[in-house]
Amino acid sequence: MSNPSLLILAGDGIGPEVMGEVVKIIDWYGEKRDLKFDVSHDLVGGAAYDAHGTPLTDETMARAQDADAVLLGAVGGPKYDVLDFSVKPERGLLRLRKEMDLFSNLRPAQCFDALADFSSLKKDVVAGLDIMIVRELTSGVYFGEPRGIFTEGNERVGINTQRYTESEIARVARSAFELARKRGNKVCSMEKANVMESGILWREVVTEIHAKEYADVELSHMYADAGAMQLCRWPKQFDVIVTDNLFGDLLSDAAAMLTGSLGMLPSASLGAPMANGRPKALYEPVHGSAPDIAGQGKANPIACILSFAMALRYSFDEGEEATRLESAIEKVLADGVRTADLLGPEGGSPVSTSEMGDKIVEALNASL
Ligand code: NAD
Ligand code: IPM
Ligand code: MN
Repeated sequence: MSNPSLLILAGDGIGPEVMGEVVKIIDWYGEKRDLKFDVSHDLVGGAAYDAHGTPLTDETMARAQDADAVLLGAVGGPKYDVLDFSVKPERGLLRLRKEMDLFSNLRPAQCFDALADFSSLKKDVVAGLDIMIVRELTSGVYFGEPRGIFTEGNERVGINTQRYTESEIARVARSAFELARKRGNKVCSMEKANVMESGILWREVVTEIHAKEYADVELSHMYADAGAMQLCRWPKQFDVIVTDNLFGDLLSDAAAMLTGSLGMLPSASLGAPMANGRPKALYEPVHGSAPDIAGQGKANPIACILSFAMALRYSFDEGEEATRLESAIEKVLADGVRTADLLGPEGGSPVSTSEMGDKIVEALNASL
């Protein structure tokens, strides 16, 4: 049987830097655990625009559809700010998400013990934190029609449309309930049913699916603004949070800071099962291309490496190997190894991106 295929789209800015460390980890699994992948590389975002005049070619899109899993670094950067909206780097990522129909975006926020002091919140608020944000990823205001910038009378008007169908809400709700059953068995659904019809429908559909199929799971509802406040006040009250595309974008960045740094947060974007039973899947860190530190060897590769751990767990049924990788990262952090983003105001001497990758490989070796 051939090895499972991994398509790597490193992208822009720090994307290729952090992905270089993921490749070390992939190689380690091939050599030491006989877990081999057929890895191929392609362009996305600004890098694809520079080469082909589009942030994602049809050929790359087709390769992503065929891959057993896609690993993505990050896209975007100031160089591309002047481009027409339709060819901006971010459009490449959004096309991947939409055409692969990756409706369920899992964004875990876990606080590693070694970093509990580093969070901007008090240690007892974040120590042991382990929550999962499930963000709807293929609909809502990101994709709703009508959209555009139009002229009305003598002024311009910018329009985006928040639109959710019942089935779109139902499928992401199911994925949140399924996950909750394997974790703390609690789901909190967030919308703004107080001001938005799409929020009213969201709450109704989540409530119906819960009553019919998941009554064993504890369900609560919160307005998303109050949810943001509760995430900062006492995040450990949550287990799984399910929310729409835009609220999920904001809430997951906020949750990232609970854990200490955006450089720590991975994500998995999952769709329906393919013919081989694996879900369509794309794995990427939550952070962006970090233009302010790109090219300096300062980026923290952990979010991207943890995204590969999620690929091991969700695409390749290698939960134990995923845990091995997560434990290796935990050990390296416990040993005090820090990239610059993980140093507090008192400073210290940071390791580079590639030194962090090497330390994680060392910890993997020690785990054998
Ligand atoms: P960003 O996540 O790139 O950076 C925010 C801050 O966090 C910066 O100070 C950056 O240095 C820091 N940071 C992020 N990742 C880090 C890491 N791994 N290690 C250390 N520090 C890290 O967000 P931004 O500045 O708002 O966006 C920059 C570009 O990235 C924009 O073009 C944006 O559209 C794009 N973006 C892409 C993605 C993606 O590809 N999934 C996600 C978010 C933003
Ligand atoms: C994210 C990013 C993306 C989003 C951008 C880059 C399209 O912020 O993955 O969180 O808004 O979804
Ligand atoms: Mn975001």
